[in-house]
Amino acid sequence: MFLLKKMSLCVIAVAIATAGVAQKKTIDQKVDSVLKLMTLDEKIGQMNQYNGDWDATGPITKDGDKQNQIKKGMLGSMLNVTGVAHTKTLQEIAMQSRLKIPLLFGQDVIHGYRTIFPLPLAEAASWDLPLIEKSARIAAVEASAAGVHWTFAPMVDIARDPRWGRVMEGAGEDTYLGSLIAAARVKGFQGKGLGNTDAVMACVKHFAAYGAAVGGRDYNSVDMSLRQLNEVYLPPYKAAVEAGAATVMNSFNDVNGIPATANHYLLRTLLKGQWNFKGFVVSDWGSVGEMINHGYAKDNYDAAMLAANAGCDMDMESRSYIQHLAKLVKEGKVKMSVIDDAVKRILHKKFEMGLFDDPYKFCNTTREQQQWNNVENITASREMAKHSIVLLKNDAVNGAPLLPLSKHSKTIALVGPLVKAIRENLGFWSYSWPDDTARIVTLWQGMQNKISNDSKLLYAKGCNINDQNKDGFEEAVNIAKQADVVVLSVGEAPDMTGEAKSRSNLHLPGVQEALIQAIAATGKPVILLISAGRPLVFNDAADHVSSIMYTWWLGTQAGNAIADVLFGDYNPSARLPVSFPRSEGQIPVYYNHYSTGRPAKNDSDVNYVSAYIDELNSPKYYFGYGLSYTQFQYGAITLSKTNLKGNETLQASVEVTNTGNADGEETVQLYIRDIIGSVVRPVKELKGFKKVWLQKGAHQTITFNITVNDLKFYNDALQYNWEPGAFQVMIGRNAGDVQTVNINWSR
Ligand code: NOJ
Repeated sequence: MFLLKKMSLCVIAVAIATAGVAQKKTIDQKVDSVLKLMTLDEKIGQMNQYNGDWDATGPITKDGDKQNQIKKGMLGSMLNVTGVAHTKTLQEIAMQSRLKIPLLFGQDVIHGYRTIFPLPLAEAASWDLPLIEKSARIAAVEASAAGVHWTFAPMVDIARDPRWGRVMEGAGEDTYLGSLIAAARVKGFQGKGLGNTDAVMACVKHFAAYGAAVGGRDYNSVDMSLRQLNEVYLPPYKAAVEAGAATVMNSFNDVNGIPATANHYLLRTLLKGQWNFKGFVVSDWGSVGEMINHGYAKDNYDAAMLAANAGCDMDMESRSYIQHLAKLVKEGKVKMSVIDDAVKRILHKKFEMGLFDDPYKFCNTTREQQQWNNVENITASREMAKHSIVLLKNDAVNGAPLLPLSKHSKTIALVGPLVKAIRENLGFWSYSWPDDTARIVTLWQGMQNKISNDSKLLYAKGCNINDQNKDGFEEAVNIAKQADVVVLSVGEAPDMTGEAKSRSNLHLPGVQEALIQAIAATGKPVILLISAGRPLVFNDAADHVSSIMYTWWLGTQAGNAIADVLFGDYNPSARLPVSFPRSEGQIPVYYNHYSTGRPAKNDSDVNYVSAYIDELNSPKYYFGYGLSYTQFQYGAITLSKTNLKGNETLQASVEVTNTGNADGEETVQLYIRDIIGSVVRPVKELKGFKKVWLQKGAHQTITFNITVNDLKFYNDALQYNWEPGAFQVMIGRNAGDVQTVNINWSR
């Protein structure tokens, strides 16, 4: 008996080794040869993922037996295990299992690993796809050097509701921009392809429509027409899949009554069917078991059956699969072919990653050290941060715009709870490292790095972020009075946005608005810096200060990047990827809404039209909005023709001239409206944009090539096509500032 067991183990070892190294075998063949050796329990083990014991990003299940379970082949993957030492320890245990199938280590590397970059929403404000791709690339290089195989990013959920705390993690409200950014991030994470030691698997999330949670309340339901789902919410996931994303994570919410975790339409019909996705699907944390709370599954047994059959391949932290799938298979409720398909998908990725050849491929301490303080990465983070800062206002003071500041002969008062904040700069979904204090550049430090000897910085905190104490106001006002100009740094606390961080009140927390008023009352010119993970409401401040920069959370180099922009070493170029509401009651406010049967003629029209009697319809700041230290003048739109047919291409051009006093970058935006459709169409939709850097005085003609692909939409029968007729072509600075011309397009 013993001999027999020993012999069969030898055969297995040879088979696995051969599966790993044979040159001529395709990955599919290698996967098949491993699958043949696996027991049902081992297969189910591959579909099981646990949290590690070091960190947690969800409710923890106490479970002291993980190592033993790894040894028994009951685990395919772990999350929240990082660092070469930890990953190596656990991988060594996996190598003691019967089949020695390597573990996959997944991690939320959302906007950087060691070097933290701006929040994803902030990066989206750059509209700079190569920079965004580079940010993801660097995150992958650093994370992979620390043993991570797989990032749970990008999050590509379209979000029209800033109450939802996770708006920070995506690319904002627009489908077109969101899809381009989704693809850029996937390419960045996966680099030259899986199998390279610096590539991590991307995980597109949260499939699907998580960003449309009712009321902006996290984990809430999503109810929308299939047309809306297909047209507005699904394209970014599809773009990410087409860019080669290795994995997909499903979402906590139900979509039209069916939890996404067990949503056959989403997972089998669309993702694995029409979109031909070959990777694997992981549940969100506990989302298989949570179908009991949804009232969709009776118990964990039922939940495992529903999720597995619908196409969810791996169970993150519910323990529903490991406990119930074997019985479900034996009772014929889940077919062996369903299990085999899931396991094949998972093994395929492990082969692609090269883990069968070398399970310790990502466990190289030298590489980990090299990436620990990589100066190039830090420089790139500063670059990305500069490009993410949105200049919202820059009024003239004494006849000239307040910004940029001079580095000479000034006394600058730095006031506010975030001036000397350190870790806050990293925002939600970032890592704490022991040397954070030395490494993160605060606003205070960034300003000091920049000013000349003849300038002086003063400081007063004024108040905390989120309490009612005004004791610091007096000192802050006194400091302001001594200065030529005040830089006032306020915002949310970083953990006010992110998972489970929905807010019903989007005003600046605590007494910060009162602090702004007190400082503005001194009559000194005020530059307001607002740090947040979402659009906030700050009308009063917006009306009473001269300049406003929206700085989001910018990461490790925040202070340097802000100072670069304040002093004009970088001319701000970012544009809002999301509309900013005037009040919470206006939400959702987004630019690509429908016209309605009673559209308001303008913001003051309330005469039996679709409007509020106590609030304007327009947002405070439009999607696409952002200022520069220079001005760009737009010439009239010229068209190659106004009547088009079928597959012709329309050239729409505009001449843009830098008429101001600085070199700068403009983001020229193209929107289209289909005037009459078989279903109603949005008042405008972004269909293109071009970033152009112009020296002062220079001009350039920007041309967009428009084809019928830009006119397509989902009709009532969910067919994606265009309809002939009249269209408006709009080109401009933002969704609220465009020129419009009319065209006709016939078949
Ligand atoms: C829950 C979050 O929704 C998801 O985005 C994240 O990847 C997992 N937890 C793992 O941390």
